[in-house]
Amino acid sequence: MFVVLSGKNSVSKLISKSKISYKIFKLIVWQVFIGIYIHIPFCAKKCYYCDFFMSLSLQYKEEYLQTLIKELGLRKNYLQNKPVETIYLGGGTPSLLSEKELNEIFEQIYKTYNVSEKVEITAEANPDDLSNSYLKELKKTPINRLSIGIQSFFDDDLQMMNRRHSAEQSMFVVKKAQDNGFSNISGDLIYGLPGMSSKKWKKNLNSFFELKIPHLSAYHLTYEPNTVFIKRLKTGKIKEISEEESIIQFKILQKEAKKNNFFQYETSNFGKEGFFSKHNTAYWQQKHYLGIGASAHSYNGNSRQFNIKNIKEYIKRTGEDNNYFKKEILSEKDKYNDYIITRLRTMWGVDINFVKKKICENYAEFLVEKAQKHIEKGNLTEKKNILYVTEQGKFIEDFIIEDLFYL
Ligand SMILES: C[S@@+](CC[C@H](N)C(=O)[O-])C[C@H]1O[C@@H](n2cnc3c(N)ncnc32)[C@H](O)[C@@H]1O
Ligand code: SF4
Repeated sequence: MFVVLSGKNSVSKLISKSKISYKIFKLIVWQVFIGIYIHIPFCAKKCYYCDFFMSLSLQYKEEYLQTLIKELGLRKNYLQNKPVETIYLGGGTPSLLSEKELNEIFEQIYKTYNVSEKVEITAEANPDDLSNSYLKELKKTPINRLSIGIQSFFDDDLQMMNRRHSAEQSMFVVKKAQDNGFSNISGDLIYGLPGMSSKKWKKNLNSFFELKIPHLSAYHLTYEPNTVFIKRLKTGKIKEISEEESIIQFKILQKEAKKNNFFQYETSNFGKEGFFSKHNTAYWQQKHYLGIGASAHSYNGNSRQFNIKNIKEYIKRTGEDNNYFKKEILSEKDKYNDYIITRLRTMWGVDINFVKKKICENYAEFLVEKAQKHIEKGNLTEKKNILYVTEQGKFIEDFIIEDLFYL
């Protein structure tokens, strides 16, 4: 199993769904409905909280893009010509690519794969890349959904995070994107930042909902290894907010989202009806998935493939000896643990019958037994053989997940 829970006995960590969630939607997948993830590992500036696989050097950008195209060709049979329902360009910063570069990638995808007519195509974008002219360029690509990294509507927070943009810029570009015909927009926000008060977080949410965009990904800050934030935390330059404050901010998030008719369909993801991310939902509903690019992961129901996390090596090995990925055959235990970790955080819950029929009867028995004490404590509830986390259970969700794991 490759997702490691923090294991810390801290409520803030437990509700810091971010740690699992923002990565999980890039990493974990299975079964039948198909998605393609493409990793663009280039950024213009490194944010102080981020440990995503990225490079500040654009030296290999051209070669990298050509290698992506090559890999798309090489992996042609991975999806067995099944219809591709979602494509997701994540990073790094996909919005560093020009229309021409994006369209070269899409040309190869359309030429090689069976792309559904209703395909959702998302690109992650940094606000400062979304000039009016760039938005017009994006409109000439098949991208039909933007995921914009707003993070905060306060300039002091943005500076603290080493973001490239201002709060005003985010508001402006969202409107511009809407004017240019992008109606399916998601915004990322981070809460639980050092020094962030619940009042400030509420103001952030109010600013967000005023933008009238239909999807929000809100992540509690996680202090990741190899980030400036963790160094500053260790040297006492910044301080973690208290667990009580984390809980308050999470409750504010839930309340404000509900007030604005957003459904919490996953712990950190909220959407208006009809605007849940198809791509992320596919992950959480055990769909098959092809990951292209350095560090990208793929899943086909029985195995997982991990591409090398090194731009130069990825370029060198792809098409040469093709030794650019590792493959892991999934055991029943892996499948069970993946199912628990992906499903319990969603509004679709954990289906005991799915575990019984698609994974293994013994694991279903284990699950039922383990779940019992959480049901008695009111943290889980069972309806028609499906286990859901209750409102109360949401605050200790990662504890529950950890406890339901088969180790
Ligand atoms: C791949 S990143 C962002 C893509 C894009 N480059 C950007 O910065 O907008 C996806 C999202 O994960 C969230 N994220 C990344 N690191 C995080 C952390 N340490 N704690 C909480 N959220 C984090 C941020 O909200 C970020 O927008
Ligand atoms: S948050 Fe986005 S822009 Fe910032 S370093 Fe991470 S991937 Fe790059």
